[in-house]
Amino acid sequence: MQRIPVAGPSITQREIDYVTDAVTNCWYGQANAYHARFEQAFAEYIGSKYAMALPSCTSAIHLSLAALGVGPGDEVIVPDVTWIASAAPIQYVGATPVFADIDRDSWCLSAEAFERSITDRTRAVIVVDLYGNMPAMNAVLAVARRHGIAVIEDAAEAFGSEQGGLKAGRFGDTGVFSFHGSKTMTTGEGGMLVTDRKDLFDRAQFLRDHGRIPGDVSFFNHEVAFKYKMSSMQAALGLAQVERAEELVGRKREIFGWYAEELAGIDGMWLNPEPAGMRNSYWMVTAVLSPARGLGKDQVAQRLAAAGVDTRPFFHPLSSLPAYQGTPQAKRARETNRIAYEVAPYGFNLPCALCLTRDQVRFVSEKLRDVLASAEAERGRAAG
Ligand SMILES: Cc1ncc(COP(=O)(O)O)c(C=O)c1O
Repeated sequence: MQRIPVAGPSITQREIDYVTDAVTNCWYGQANAYHARFEQAFAEYIGSKYAMALPSCTSAIHLSLAALGVGPGDEVIVPDVTWIASAAPIQYVGATPVFADIDRDSWCLSAEAFERSITDRTRAVIVVDLYGNMPAMNAVLAVARRHGIAVIEDAAEAFGSEQGGLKAGRFGDTGVFSFHGSKTMTTGEGGMLVTDRKDLFDRAQFLRDHGRIPGDVSFFNHEVAFKYKMSSMQAALGLAQVERAEELVGRKREIFGWYAEELAGIDGMWLNPEPAGMRNSYWMVTAVLSPARGLGKDQVAQRLAAAGVDTRPFFHPLSSLPAYQGTPQAKRARETNRIAYEVAPYGFNLPCALCLTRDQVRFVSEKLRDVLASAEAERGRAAG
């Protein structure tokens, strides 16, 4: 049976040409030629002043925290439901993650839960744009401003999303992106840090190259820092992809539109929201079921897998993971983060690779309708 993949890129002759050029010519004095073009094109697309190509989004979050001077004794707030990469770098700099509840509609950080989680040790918040969705930014930023808290916007999953006419990644002191192979635009592995703050950009440039002044050729290190760089081949691939940004985002939106049509009218199931004033780039088409259906994400995944359809489970609350067991922050989060624990067990990502066809979306949707109908019938029989 041919499997329908959850995610995958769109690669054209443009990408092949640029990468071939990079591997052939971008050495010696030309080694950074594609980085400069990629960073400039990316900054222009996002609308930010500065952009720095990096090996991953994880490294972009780490650098953001380090450049902001977050360290031991500090707390950093992060939504409880996200990929662990949003939170792990908090510990890389010796700070403590605090898991705040999500909002039921956006599945992103709740501004109220964020404010309730603030203590006199809170230094930063990592706001995550989950699956292309975005939180109510004005409310979240107002809380951060009121309490003097730095904002890192984790837009790893929201390349091309917008709120109030501003692109995702523009809302914090820094914005970070992932170009992992599953993302809307990819460099295989890779990431980007964007900012309008020259002080943060300069500090991050220094920290990402073993603590030496950019342009240094005397191998003279002022601090022990990190090595976070991208190769020319990745930068060339990134340039080709960002030149096709609107085509790629348009394709994601088209795929979502097909699902929205095919799955219309199903009670007790919600797809990614697109509230007024927002453009959702729908990195992952995501469905969340009402707990009242009694159908967990693992059951849906098993049943769809049997029909040849791959899915991914909605991220688990970080506070539920073995990685954070035994921490007081996880214990508190398990007691307080009601919405995280009501949404995460009942959500799943549907196939939305950029190569997907209308027929495949129709097929997946039919299978999902079958799964929901058979589960409903089983419940009916069990109830007698
Ligand atoms: C929300 C979020 N943050 C951060 C990351 C980390 O990205 P990377 O794998 O490029 O380090 C990801 C990657 O999937 C992500 O989904």
